[in-house]
Amino acid sequence: MKKLPLIALWLLAALGAGCSKSPAPADAGAPTKADVKIGFLVKQPEVSWFQLEWRFADQAAKELGFTLVKIGATDGEKVLGAIDTLAASGAQGFVICTPDTHLGPSIVAKAKAANLKLISVDDQFLGAGGQPMKDVHHLGISAAKIGETVGVALAAEMKRHGWATADTAVCAVTFDELATAKERTDGAIAAIVAAGFPKDKIFHAPQRTSDIPGGFDAVNVLLTQQPAVKHWLVCGMNDWAVLGAVRALEGRGFAADSCAGIGINGTDCIDELEKAKPTSFVGSVLLSARSHGYQTVTMMFHWIKDGAEPATDTRTAGVLITRENFRQVLKEQGVRD
Ligand code: GLA
Repeated sequence: MKKLPLIALWLLAALGAGCSKSPAPADAGAPTKADVKIGFLVKQPEVSWFQLEWRFADQAAKELGFTLVKIGATDGEKVLGAIDTLAASGAQGFVICTPDTHLGPSIVAKAKAANLKLISVDDQFLGAGGQPMKDVHHLGISAAKIGETVGVALAAEMKRHGWATADTAVCAVTFDELATAKERTDGAIAAIVAAGFPKDKIFHAPQRTSDIPGGFDAVNVLLTQQPAVKHWLVCGMNDWAVLGAVRALEGRGFAADSCAGIGINGTDCIDELEKAKPTSFVGSVLLSARSHGYQTVTMMFHWIKDGAEPATDTRTAGVLITRENFRQVLKEQGVRD
């Protein structure tokens, strides 16, 4: 084979280099804080809880100097589209409360393919076998414990009113397809039973959708089935579930002080607690929207920027709020001025 002149080899190499991607600069692995772009996807962007998560995430973005991209992702298609958009715009990671925990494996696959880091918030992903995906970094609530706080408070309400066991029943507005929801209502029921309430007076009202109409419809069915109950103790996965139940009780003519409902979140019931005329919605367990918004994106920021991998599982606590103390507690937690 005829030898090519040196100049021809040099030209070929130069052309080749032009065709392939130029090599990454030596310091490309460590983005500056201004290079960091983080997505925050939530399943119900219209709900105060998720708006607060975003507000606290925004605060972190401002303080740490990164870009936050907030996306309402209400179904699977929107989630997968949002991941593409984030990848195309140069994001390095995202935090997500998925609209469906069964999407877990597809979200993980898509994030991996796009080289995006991932933290799930609120609702933990489920794998193919329906088991929690423990290898995906997650920040959620201590659901069973928070449910127990609700149960203990409901038992105390019954005692305070002096309601007879014979006239009283528990209405658990359930949404068992979501693990954190089931753990919450199971925890509430366990605490009520531990307080001595008979198991056979505990009724489930399964929600078809996790919103106020979902709670309302489910409880209407139960009230039709159990017309003899005079006092209802109501628990559910969150404020909206219990608000739906309270509206259903009102529709059936139950007086405000003949029933007691306690929600979870504490952020989606503020108008209710502020009503001049009290309703049967007597309180809620306030969760830490700040931890779920600020802490998740801060963990993601340090993971991207400094390579500091966060803990795989972080659980947050809640605090009981009532009509008496909610203003003060919301102020202390930075939820309201
Ligand atoms: C779930 C619920 C929300 C809120 C969060 C808290 O996502 O749907 O209302 O309670 O959990 O982690």
